[in-house]
Amino acid sequence: MDADLVIVGAGLFGLTVAQQAVEHSGARVRIIDVRNHIGGNAYSYMDKETGAEIHQYGAHLFHTSNRKVWEYVNRFTEFTDYTHRVYTTHKGEVFPLPINLGTINQFFRARYTPQEARDLIREQAGELAGTDPANLNDQGISLIGRPLYEAFIKNYTAKQWQTDPSQLPASIIKRLPVRFNYDNHYFKDTWEGLPKEGYTAWFERMIDDPRIEVSLGTDFFDTTQPWNRDALVGQVPLVYTGPVDRYFDYRLGELKWRTVDFKERRYDEDDHFGCPVMNFSDPDVPYTRAIEFKNFNPERHDRQNHERTVVWEEYSRFAGKGDEPYYPINTSDDRALYSEYKGLSEQEPRVVFGGRLGTYAYYDMHQVINSALDAWEKKVKPLID
Ligand code: FAD
Ligand code: NA
Repeated sequence: MDADLVIVGAGLFGLTVAQQAVEHSGARVRIIDVRNHIGGNAYSYMDKETGAEIHQYGAHLFHTSNRKVWEYVNRFTEFTDYTHRVYTTHKGEVFPLPINLGTINQFFRARYTPQEARDLIREQAGELAGTDPANLNDQGISLIGRPLYEAFIKNYTAKQWQTDPSQLPASIIKRLPVRFNYDNHYFKDTWEGLPKEGYTAWFERMIDDPRIEVSLGTDFFDTTQPWNRDALVGQVPLVYTGPVDRYFDYRLGELKWRTVDFKERRYDEDDHFGCPVMNFSDPDVPYTRAIEFKNFNPERHDRQNHERTVVWEEYSRFAGKGDEPYYPINTSDDRALYSEYKGLSEQEPRVVFGGRLGTYAYYDMHQVINSALDAWEKKVKPLID
């Protein structure tokens, strides 16, 4: 065995643990990934025709208020001063999101002050006062009132879930923040930006050490290759960031996920939307939103093609086997099933389960890095020393 630690999955969880293992224990680390690239879902590549950096598994914006994580990621990349803003098209008009005073005044053709807008929304949200929201529709109405809910939330959510909101549980939306000023910065975090030289340069720098070796196109469950489950479990410390139900051959059942299909369009224009993310709030457009990747990196304008642009439309649906699992569905049945798998995973000898697939959780990048730094310290390091 020429490795002190084997990591399944070259996503941010696996890369962070690998980096820590070399730095703190001088371990020799083997990372395997079934895909042909590192970075997991945060992977991106440069599009030759347009000069856009395409985020292959959906738009990834880095943001955090965690100083430890911010200092950590800045060891490997600088960040641009990009700040995320999102717009939405509704009935032939473009509105700013998240719903703010600009959205409200444009929608109601008004010039409400913050207090007037607050009073209006409170009154409209009172429509169902005294009743418990029975489904997502009622929940949306009681949070922000029917007019704004129906214009901006209802049909978008229906497209995300491929289900009428009257048939969805109220619990899907706990809060619908409305801002009573004109602030349309999407994230409220202390730090935000995109990696200056792209995501892949960042990730390569994390594992730029001769003690880390990566085997791509390598499936942990393929027993014809050496780095497989049957050969390794119990023999060497392992970090597993693939799907937890897959690890146990789905013996208790399958955890449910949503996935996203991307449809690429190219236009003979420098700029198609004038912003990186355009949502579509109405049912007549079948996709939820469209990403114009060039606009994530305006600082690269000189290096981009001004005659062509590339846009990816996003279509959301339930994931079947063979689809990329993106967002955990997380019904109470799913959570109960996951807690059984968690019980099994805790009994696996010298295997640490981590990341979004290994723990059936939605994590942003900063959260998964934080959880990997923690897992290194508390779970993986003791297995190596
Ligand atoms: P992953 O990145 O999924 O890595 C797991 C790796 O394990 C994969 O590379 C996979 O190929 C590999 N693997 C699985 N099974 C096997 C096997 N059998 N053998 C070998 N390898 C295997 N976060 C943000 O902070 N900002 C955003 O804007 C943002 N947008 C997102 C948009 C979408 C559509 C999605 C899905 C996620 C988004 N995220 C965002 C979250 C971000 O992608 C995750 O936080 C991060 O990718 C999690 O890293 P991970 O290592 O846990 O998992
Ligand atoms: Na995103």
